Amino acid sequence: MMMMGFLQLLFLSWISVASLRGCMGSDDPVQLNDDVLGLIVFKSDLHDPSSYLDSWNEDDNSPCSWKFIQCNPATGRVSEVSLDGLGLSGKIGRGLEKLQSLKVLSLSQNNFTGDISPELALIASLERLNLSHNSLSGRIPTSLANMSSIKFLDLSENSLSGPIPDNMFDNCFSLRFLSLARNSLEGPIPSTLLRCTTLSNLNISNNHISGNPDFSTGFWSLTRLRTLDLSHNALSGSVPEGVSALHSLKELQLQGNHFSESLPADIGLCPHLTRLDFSYNLFTGAIPESLQRLSSLTFFSSSNNMLTGDFPQWICSMSSLEYLDFSSNQLTGVLPSSMGDLKSLTHLSLSDNRVTGSIPMSLLYSTKLSVIRLRGNAFNGSIPEGLFGLGLDEVDFSWNELSGSIPPGSSTLFESLRKLDLSRNNLTGGIPAEMGLFSKLTYLNLSWNNLQSRMPPEFGFFQNLTVLDLRNTALYGSIPGDICDSGSLGILQLDGNSLTGPIPEEIGNCSSLYLLSFSHNKLSGSIPKSISKLNKLKILKLEFNQLSGEIPQELGRLENLLAVNISYNGLIGRLPVGGIFQNLDQSALQGNLGICSPLLKGPCKMNVPKPLVLDPYAFGNQMGGHKPGADQSSGSSKNFRHHKFLSVSAIIAISAAVVIAIGVMVISLLNVSARRRLAFVDNALESMCSSSSRSGSLATGKLVLLDSKASQDWVSSPESLLNKAAEIGEGVFGTVYKASLGGEGRVVVAIKKLVTSNIIQYPEDFDREVRILGKARHPNLIALKGYYWTPQLQLSGIRLCTKWEFTGKTP
Ligand SMILES: *[C@@H]1O[C@H](CO)[C@@H](O)[C@H](O)[C@H]1NC(C)=O
Ligand SMILES: *[C@@H]1O[C@H](CO)[C@@H](O)[C@H](O)[C@H]1NC(C)=O
Ligand SMILES: *[C@@H]1O[C@H](CO)[C@@H](O)[C@H](O)[C@H]1NC(C)=O
Ligand SMILES: *[C@@H]1O[C@H](CO)[C@@H](O)[C@H](O)[C@H]1NC(C)=O
Ligand SMILES: *[C@@H]1O[C@H](CO)[C@@H](O)[C@H](O)[C@H]1NC(C)=O
Ligand SMILES: *[C@@H]1O[C@H](CO)[C@@H](O)[C@H](O)[C@H]1NC(C)=O
Ligand SMILES: *[C@@H]1O[C@H](CO)[C@@H](O)[C@H](O)[C@H]1NC(C)=O
Ligand SMILES: *[C@@H]1O[C@H](CO)[C@@H](O)[C@H](O)[C@H]1NC(C)=O
Ligand SMILES: *[C@@H]1O[C@H](CO)[C@@H](O)[C@H](O)[C@H]1NC(C)=O
Ligand SMILES: *[C@@H]1O[C@H](CO)[C@@H](O)[C@H](O)[C@H]1NC(C)=O
Repeated sequence: MMMMGFLQLLFLSWISVASLRGCMGSDDPVQLNDDVLGLIVFKSDLHDPSSYLDSWNEDDNSPCSWKFIQCNPATGRVSEVSLDGLGLSGKIGRGLEKLQSLKVLSLSQNNFTGDISPELALIASLERLNLSHNSLSGRIPTSLANMSSIKFLDLSENSLSGPIPDNMFDNCFSLRFLSLARNSLEGPIPSTLLRCTTLSNLNISNNHISGNPDFSTGFWSLTRLRTLDLSHNALSGSVPEGVSALHSLKELQLQGNHFSESLPADIGLCPHLTRLDFSYNLFTGAIPESLQRLSSLTFFSSSNNMLTGDFPQWICSMSSLEYLDFSSNQLTGVLPSSMGDLKSLTHLSLSDNRVTGSIPMSLLYSTKLSVIRLRGNAFNGSIPEGLFGLGLDEVDFSWNELSGSIPPGSSTLFESLRKLDLSRNNLTGGIPAEMGLFSKLTYLNLSWNNLQSRMPPEFGFFQNLTVLDLRNTALYGSIPGDICDSGSLGILQLDGNSLTGPIPEEIGNCSSLYLLSFSHNKLSGSIPKSISKLNKLKILKLEFNQLSGEIPQELGRLENLLAVNISYNGLIGRLPVGGIFQNLDQSALQGNLGICSPLLKGPCKMNVPKPLVLDPYAFGNQMGGHKPGADQSSGSSKNFRHHKFLSVSAIIAISAAVVIAIGVMVISLLNVSARRRLAFVDNALESMCSSSSRSGSLATGKLVLLDSKASQDWVSSPESLLNKAAEIGEGVFGTVYKASLGGEGRVVVAIKKLVTSNIIQYPEDFDREVRILGKARHPNLIALKGYYWTPQLQLSGIRLCTKWEFTGKTP
């Protein structure tokens, strides 16, 4: 409070001193006070949280010893005030205009707010004014037009709005540098700009400047220009020839506007150009040939235009190029084989064009390459061996026609590669084992290739791997348990492969996972409980597998789950309570063995045998409200229609196979459409299984091979299969056991026990039906090779109809 009062007083006394001055003549102490008082008044309007300006003491006769102040030694007057980055805030208020010898005023990178004070223009001596990186708002004051000594004017990175004043450049005879970048200025570029013939740097980028600047009479006449940055505005019209008048031009940035027509053909006649950016406009036509003269150009981008013509074969004469971006145009042709002459190239992006041919081997000689994006072209042939020997950081070859194998990497690549996208090609030959050494990899996408490979377990060790997309890559084998060792994975997509075995319990270690999709595989076993530990999980896709058992109730705890699809598996039982599960769409649950949900009329009506965990009363309760018409028959075993269940048995029967001493066979029922086309099979089975309850019994079962038309008696009793020791796995529709056939010279087979609700007691009935099915042929089905039949099996006091599915397995 005292301070403020004192300042007020000072201010008044300064006015009186100033008015006295006229009478007293120019007297040194009074002049010094002018500067002291001006600065003190300026300071009084600011907030200086770090007390940088403590040395500014109103009792001093001269401010020349103050911090951040410089004086002209000859006159003792303040010539420079530089307060950059001191965290100052408040308004740029009165006072400064009294510093009549001030040449440099730099207040950038502070937190100044409010308008630009028009009085600043009263400092006639000012040559450099830097107010950049503040929060100044309002319009640019027209008074700035009066600053005829100004050479450097930087108002960039503020919140200035409105148009650039028309007369702004009336007196710009000295102006060399002007930046109004990153504000919210609008309207056209004033034509008075033409008068700034000494201008060498002009930056009005990142505003909303619009209109169609007349380059020919405008910018192209500012022949001293070294940098011209008009980027990210709303400018339109053509950019005509004539740019070669700017002999000194080093940087031309026109990106992010609506410029159209062809690129200026004489652009290559600006010999000093180092940076040229035409990207994100509407340019058409070919890339001007004159460009090849630009041997100093390091940066060239014309991405996201509509350029046509062949990829320039002369590109290699631009020998300084470091950054080349032609992406998202309509370029055709092939890459020149001498591409590797671009020795300085670090960034090459040609994505989304129509370039064909192979990736030139010579690229290996561009040893500084770090980013290479060729996505969405028609490159064919193989990835040059050795390309992965460079220390690349990012490789995107997706959506091409590349074939051959993924080259192994070198130690340089292992230490550098962060992102590898080879998706949507025709690559074969597996995932190189060396990939396990990529320590920095964060993104790996090999989806839609034909790798025919197992999943290397090493993926789990990548500390920073967040995306692993291996969809549709013809993977087989099991999902390695250590896939989640590092816990960094956020996206794990393995859909559309031939993965077998269970989902590893260790999946619960993928603590960052939010997208887990394993659909369209042959995964079996139950859904691991540990998935419930993935509390970031948003999407869980498991459809079209052979998962069995109940859905772990714990999954109901996953609060972030937004989408779940478990359709077309062999799942049974109740849905987890809580979470998204009670709101799932019927389509996300359909095609299972017996999920209990009011949405699933079909399966829930099936008569699932009691030993299969299901409690029929639970069904009754759940289904209590369904349509009365559906329950035509009565009696506990006929309470449910058979249809859905029978379609499941149809699949089982059709895919059941005995292949003795041939090899491992797998059920390969891949899609619904296959099932639909085999509806007739469905019906056949339906009639088969409903022609059931006749009496009679057979003491032993019989093995029937459809091909040999011979049958043989089962050597060991079926009951021996119930022996735990013979169990080799839990299949989708039942347990798989190992058994021997045929006495001496016996063959070991894998046998899947199928459980159905109906009893067929006469082998003739069953045989006839099964032989019909055995004739069914479909690419997605394995031919039925045989069956084993036994009328009934006493198991824990429950009568089961059993059929046997055989899957051959050599010893
Ligand atoms: C500007 O002020 C804001 C709070 O108003 C503060 O968070 C920020 O750090 C300041 N910036 C500078 C450069 O001091
Ligand atoms: C203004 O200050 C900023 C940051 O301190 C600096 O980068 C810029 O070059 C300065 N502008 C001029 C014209 O000196
Ligand atoms: C420029 O200065 C002249 C005289 O110094 C004054 O008359 C005029 O109003 C000023 N122009 C602006 C836009 O402030
Ligand atoms: C223009 O200004 C923007 C924002 O300050 C800056 O990022 C850009 O590099 C400048 N352009 C040139 C050519 O210096
Ligand atoms: C690549 O494509 C070009 C043009 O489409 C074709 O002439 C050439 O034979 C192809 N090369 C390979 C290896 O497929
Ligand atoms: C992997 O690549 C495919 C095809 O390019 C793309 O559709 C998919 O989004 C990518 N996956 C991820 C997780 O980015
Ligand atoms: C992939 O390669 C195979 C032969 O290796 C060829 O038959 C098939 O057409 C190719 N697919 C595509 C999409 O190029
Ligand atoms: C993983 O990323 C972090 C943070 O970006 C980094 O510090 C660490 O070095 C990276 N780890 C590896 C093996 O690259
Ligand atoms: C991964 O999960 C398994 C089983 O869920 C657990 O035994 C193991 O300790 C976990 N490993 C890590 C590194 O968390
Ligand atoms: C679940 O997957 C099946 C099979 O792909 C599909 O038909 C169904 O629309 C999906 N449902 C939901 C809710 O995603």
